[in-house]
Amino acid sequence: MASSIEIAGLRKNYGSLSVLDDISVSIKAGEFLTLLGPSGSGKTTLLMTIAGFVRPNAGSIKVDGREIVTLAPHKRNIGMVFQNYALFPHMSVGENVAYPLKLRGVGRGERDDRAKRALAAVRMEQYADRRIDQLSGGQRQRVAVARAIVFEPNIILMDEPLSALDKRLREEMQVELKRLHETLGRTIVYVTHDQKEALTMSDRVAVLKSGRIRQIASPRDIYDKPVDRFVADFIGDSGFVSLTDRGRGVDLAVSDGFRAAHVTGKADPLLLLRPEKIEIVSSPDAQPDLIRFDGVADDVLFQGDLVVVHATLADGTRLRLQRGTRQNTMRDLPAVGSRFRMAIHEEDAWVVSGVQAGEHAP
Ligand SMILES: Nc1ncnc2c1ncn2[C@@H]1O[C@H](COP(=O)(O)OP(=O)(O)OP(=O)(O)O)[C@@H](O)[C@H]1O
Ligand SMILES: [Mg+2]
Repeated sequence: MASSIEIAGLRKNYGSLSVLDDISVSIKAGEFLTLLGPSGSGKTTLLMTIAGFVRPNAGSIKVDGREIVTLAPHKRNIGMVFQNYALFPHMSVGENVAYPLKLRGVGRGERDDRAKRALAAVRMEQYADRRIDQLSGGQRQRVAVARAIVFEPNIILMDEPLSALDKRLREEMQVELKRLHETLGRTIVYVTHDQKEALTMSDRVAVLKSGRIRQIASPRDIYDKPVDRFVADFIGDSGFVSLTDRGRGVDLAVSDGFRAAHVTGKADPLLLLRPEKIEIVSSPDAQPDLIRFDGVADDVLFQGDLVVVHATLADGTRLRLQRGTRQNTMRDLPAVGSRFRMAIHEEDAWVVSGVQAGEHAP
């Protein structure tokens, strides 16, 4: 069974430092929610508060409608994979995995059976008798996951479980954790630094900054429709060009419809330009649904599957755009140092405010 989590008005201070600042979020039963944010933004503290290892200064955490904020960690039925795994080095793999069952008073025989099943779920059944220091990083990570799921918790919390692994293994484990989520059907709250990982794995992503949730949305919405410049910058590669100050030399033709829908009323509106959404315009025919602008190509870098162009606009804005490397695409590339025309379709365009909530335009 999976559980829902309802967090309301959660606050945690360390002295005068506000680490969780009025966090409210509803997590659906069976959802995969990822917390993403810079170092120190409060991700681990939020997980530790849900797990019961950190006591908040204010707020409520309800699981399936029941308040748990004062409940001891082992009574919460929540499994946790810690940021540094926290495996016991003096115990075997099997003993590590069985430990949460021992803590809950489960008898020897059943402990061994269930530990075996949890190890099988992460494909580590043949390693039960090994010591932890005889395992690779990826294997340790699997043991930590097995230990978190062995008592069949309704909620699993994972704090950067893949950060110690190299890129290839990390991608392999992403697929495995996703598969595990599908087979177990439990609610997962996951923390990562890696924005691609967050987009790949999650039903929803919450972006944190200084103990606050700046945006919570589906991977597509958080990438395509970030609420502000911070979120846009944090997720994916982004360039911005101002829509207020046309006097600075970038001549952007934006239709009245687009302006009314996305620009009017925004403080310091910035057009978000993702590298893969920028077209290179080679024909002079004007299409009304294209926002066009000119720049100079600084570099054209062939990377095998992609070709990357760095360009500078008239106001000094630097942009990155990328294309696939099919022959017809390669023919349209600008020469280094030449002026060329770019465009973004209005349906791909998104405007963010350059002013963060709570701040004021200069
Ligand atoms: N026990 C503590 N005492 C004092 N300050 C703390 C304590 N635990 C965490 N902090 C502070 O709270 C803030 C948030 O820490 P937290 O570990 O939640 O960040 P994080 O988002 O997980 O960062 P990282 O990505 O580096 O793991 C940091 O400024 C940290 O120094
Ligand atoms: Mg952390």
